[in-house]
Amino acid sequence: MEGLLIAIDGPAGSGKSSVARAVADKLGFANLNTGAAYRAVALLALREGVDLDDGASLAEVSRRVSLDERGALVDGVLVRESALLRTPEVSAAASTVSARPEVRAVLLEVQREAAREASTQRGAVVEGRDIGTVVLPDAELKIFLSAAPEERARRRAHQTGREAELDRIREAMRKRDRQDSERETSPLKPAPDAVTLDTTSLDLDGVVSRVLELARELREKGA
Ligand code: DC
Repeated sequence: MEGLLIAIDGPAGSGKSSVARAVADKLGFANLNTGAAYRAVALLALREGVDLDDGASLAEVSRRVSLDERGALVDGVLVRESALLRTPEVSAAASTVSARPEVRAVLLEVQREAAREASTQRGAVVEGRDIGTVVLPDAELKIFLSAAPEERARRRAHQTGREAELDRIREAMRKRDRQDSERETSPLKPAPDAVTLDTTSLDLDGVVSRVLELARELREKGA
């Protein structure tokens, strides 16, 4: 399946990252987590005191960010402490900066370049919010993962070891969902040709098997 591009989109807690990683591993593909680029822009902006409403300055910050299989890079250096990118503050700021068209325009090219690079020899599994709709509209396979909000909040709490803060996580997630799906530029929504999988009552293996099956069908059809 050389060169095959698989787009996996969906909201926080839908299982995107785990599914994308497992599918990439199984197929021997590269895995690109595009959210890391938005998070790196947010981290830089917070560190450098850039106003999160200042599109032009945010665009400048975004130009210092790139992406590869290992994660996000700032000024060409990998952000090794990935926990820094996952704090509640950075998560909230990432959602805010991702609504800025200036940021999206810069990161669009960053993501396409990373996908081109990653898929030249092997295929790539690219996960995000608008991969199938905007970043890689020609991806051969597009998956949209959904799950009930309560289940997504529970997964995120478990993932981050913050079970005691479930209420706060649920509230922050609701806010982020609204922001991500109501923004004007590239809102979170399935591509018309995406296969939507509801993961509420499916375990990771079930979702991964289904995606692998779809990839196999594509290959058999000679894509
Ligand atoms: O997938 P994630 O939670 O790490 O993404 C962080 C933020 O970045 C999220 O609020 C939405 C935004 N994002 C986006 O707008 N487009 C993408 N392709 C990936 C992430």
